Order: sequence, then structure tokens, then C-alpha cells
Amino acid sequence: MATKPMSYPIMEKLVALSRRRGFLFQSSEIYDGINAVYDYGPMGVELKRNIKDLWWQDMVRSREDILGMDTAILMHPRVWEASGHVNNFHDPMTECKKCRRRYRVDHLPEGTKDCPECGGELAEAKQFNLMFRTKLGSTDEGSMDVYLRPETAQGIFVNFANVVASNRVKLPFGIAQLGKAFRNEITTGNFIFRTREFEQMEMEFFIHPGENARWLEYWAEERLNWYKSLGISPEKLRLRAHGPDELAHYSSACYDVEYAFPYGFSEVEGIADRGTYDLDQHNAFSKKKLDYIDQENGGVRIVPAVIETSAGVDRSVLTVMTDAFWEDEANERIVMRFSPKLAPYKAAVFPLFKKEGMPEIARKLYEQLRRHTAVIYDDGGSIGKRYRRQDEIGTPFCLTVDHESLNDHAVTLRDRDSLEQIRIPIGKVPDILKEKIGL
Ligand code: GLY
Repeated sequence: MATKPMSYPIMEKLVALSRRRGFLFQSSEIYDGINAVYDYGPMGVELKRNIKDLWWQDMVRSREDILGMDTAILMHPRVWEASGHVNNFHDPMTECKKCRRRYRVDHLPEGTKDCPECGGELAEAKQFNLMFRTKLGSTDEGSMDVYLRPETAQGIFVNFANVVASNRVKLPFGIAQLGKAFRNEITTGNFIFRTREFEQMEMEFFIHPGENARWLEYWAEERLNWYKSLGISPEKLRLRAHGPDELAHYSSACYDVEYAFPYGFSEVEGIADRGTYDLDQHNAFSKKKLDYIDQENGGVRIVPAVIETSAGVDRSVLTVMTDAFWEDEANERIVMRFSPKLAPYKAAVFPLFKKEGMPEIARKLYEQLRRHTAVIYDDGGSIGKRYRRQDEIGTPFCLTVDHESLNDHAVTLRDRDSLEQIRIPIGKVPDILKEKIGL
């Protein structure tokens, strides 16, 4: 779906909270920023890492049939000729002759002739390649034009033979990787939904040709369920099959996992049938054999087909943050209702006051808990302010040491969502938290 300029109150509040609480900052902000590039702050990096770790756990470590990789961002330029990105990876662009603003033609209402901003005449559309180009090498004569990868997938395809030769693998099997990718998008927006530098979590699942439809359905369901497992509202998630005119140049069928953002249902992940396209192309361009000896079928050499799952890390972060954002008007607070496994901190420890032995008990508890999980110690400001701070970064539980703690060796445990407060013995805090957090 088309990216519209950001004018959604909820999104604006989310952007403000992200900055206020250290989730995300505009890149190079002190120089007025750079468009569609963001930096993750201390809270954002924890949230993002938790999402990536869960993906790696669920897609690589917990599966016998998937191996991981980490390939380079810079690749030989022939890779992108073979993959089709040099010839096909472009968007139709038009430019305003007066103000020079650029637009993606397919993001403008059909037949638009004038600039939506200044009313100037729009130039004839031309194709604009989305790959960032740079130079490899230190001298002009000796340098080579290379691209920043627009997808991590090609690093996997060009290493297919290396992985098969160095590991015991049998079809069907997958190769997964997580890493940065770059696209010089013409129109960006909706916060971190469409950025020029982003991170992907991709998995290429190699199968016997002919089994494509079955595995496409399998992976579409698996990936939809993964987002549900992150605690995202199931009713806001859906699978949508691509129409023929939407398919990428390498794909013959595709599903998107979509989330109902304030600006409409939009893609979080694509599950695509890439067939034998990529391995065929690299076979032809590199003249190396990227195939598989099918021992189960008499040792014939085959080129496996591929079902790809391609998720955007930043879009996953945005999905999780949008879904978690809650304006609790009754209690005049904003709460990020993250699932505990995604929350940057699982618990916060407070001494009610910085006196009468409270800090000592609180610090001891904090030191004990942080050996096991991510906890934060906060003794700054009123207790109300400290609760609000934790609500806004989504900490599920707060533990307060008060005057009574000195006598009853207990603390107050406050639940972020229900605001329920219960008294629990200090010695039982680790077990109770373990049970509540489900780690
Ligand atoms: N590898 C698919 C994509 O980057 O969109």
C-alpha cells in the first residue's frame, strides 16, 4: 500500500514517546537530521535485540532444518546483474519541475499531473533504481562500482554450494540470516516503516521443485503465527496474497503478513515463492554449479526451488510498538504494553526513599535479579514519576522497598497493566518474577 505523509495522531504520539524515552532518534539530529534514517537509543536497541534474538531462536536454533549465516553487505557487482536488481529493481519516479520534490508515481492518485505540494508541473515519469552505489578501492582507476545490498537474500544464494559442501544438509532445508540492507527509496515516511537503511531477517528454504505451493502455505502460516507469539493483537494481523501485478521480478507467488497500522494494513513480512530463479541466474552468470545431488532420487543433480521468508526488523519494531501503545486515560498515563519477553526491562527496583536502609535493600535485590534478567534500578524523583517512566518504556513489574520492608522483609510488586499491587517476601521475588514473566 502507498505510504502517506505522517499525520496520524497516534503515530505522532508514538514518535514523541520514542524520542522522550530513548527508543528512536532521527539520525544526525544535531545537523537537522537525515531523511528516513533512524538511530536506536538505549530502550530501542533492547527491544530490537529481543525481537532479533527471538527470530534467531525460533528460525535457526530451535529448528533442525535451518542453518544460519552472516554474509557481507558488499558483494561483487555481478551478483546484482544476475539477481535482476540492476535491470528490474526500480520504481517509477516523477519530479516537480518547480520545487524539485520527487514522488513515486504509484504513490500518487492515478493521472496526477501537478505537484501535491506546490502545484508545479510534474515531469514525465522515469524509472529510478533503488540500489545505493558506491566505489570499492582507493584510486579512481583501480576502483570498482559496487552496491550496498538491497536484500540479504543474495548472500545466501551465492553461498549455496559452500553451505551444502560444508554441512550435512538434506532437502528441504533453510539458510537464514539477519543483517542490514539499503534502498534509496523515493518516498519514505510513517516513521520507521520505510527507511533507507534497514535490517532484514531473511530465510531461504530450499525444496524439491514442485513442492512450492505446499511450502509457501506452510511458511505463510508459520510466520503469521510468529507475530502472534510476540503478543501482537491477532485481530490486527492478516495474511494477504499478492495479485499478479504486485509480484517482485523473482517471485511467482507471495503472501504478505500485514498489520493494521493507523494508516491502514501494511506489510511487515513477505513470504515468496522464488522458484529456481536465483540459483538458475547465478548458475548462468557465474558458470559455477549451484545445485544439489539428490541422493534420495538416484543421485540426480537438481536445482532446488526456494520459498523465502523476508521480514523487516524495523517494521517488526514498529508493529510491536504500535500494538503496545496504550493511552490509559482513566489513570492519565501512557503505557507500552509489551509482552514481557520483548520489554527492554522485565522489572524495576525502587527504594521508596533514599534513606533509612531502603536503598541498601533495594540495591541488594537489584544486584541479585540482574544476574538473571534485564532489570533497572531507579531512585530518582517521586514514586509516581518513577512508575510513569517505567510504564512508558513498558516495564511489566515494579518492586518497591518501603519502610515496612525493614521489618517484614517484603516488597510491593506492582503490575504495569492492571496496576494491582501485592506484597511479596523478598526471598520469593526471583521465583514469582520467573513465573509471571514466563522466561
Ligand atoms: N528478499 C526480499 C526482499 O528484500 O524484499
